[in-house]
Amino acid sequence: MKKSLIFLILFALSSNASTDAQALVEEKCSSCHMINSSTKIKQDKISAPPMWGVMRKVKDAFSTDEEGIAFIIDYVKNPSEEKMLFPKATKEHFGLMPSLKNEMSNEELKAIANYLYKG
Ligand code: HEC
Repeated sequence: MKKSLIFLILFALSSNASTDAQALVEEKCSSCHMINSSTKIKQDKISAPPMWGVMRKVKDAFSTDEEGIAFIIDYVKNPSEEKMLFPKATKEHFGLMPSLKNEMSNEELKAIANYLYKG
């Protein structure tokens, strides 16, 4: 009985956290990164690679979740050409991602990176 109650509480907490993170991703990232293919962004309005493409790149580049998550957190705060995983052509096409350091708290950014990684 006690055990199942703890389980329920944990479940409620974790599902809440992911809903918040999902809303954050939509608010902070989806204006540039297409989040899912059903989002109807016109071709000429696309201003960054879609999020699934970004995540495939990050997951290919790092062998552990921790490193990948740390990369996302750092890149969103301080994007730079040297750190870019995408090829130069991506930058030539879209420009470098602007820093979003002042757009969200560290906690929000951590929640976003975790959510993108573990979804
Ligand atoms: C104003 C538009 C814009 C917003 C908002 C934006 N991005 Fe980006 N992002 C870009 C562009 C353009 C690129 C491709 C160029 C580059 O890599 O810098 C990019 C690339 C990236 C990359 C890959 C970097 C690389 O090349 O290795 C990551 C990771 C990323 N974005 C994460 C995020 C996350 C997480 C959010 C939301 C918190 C976000 N972005 C919001 C424009 C944006």
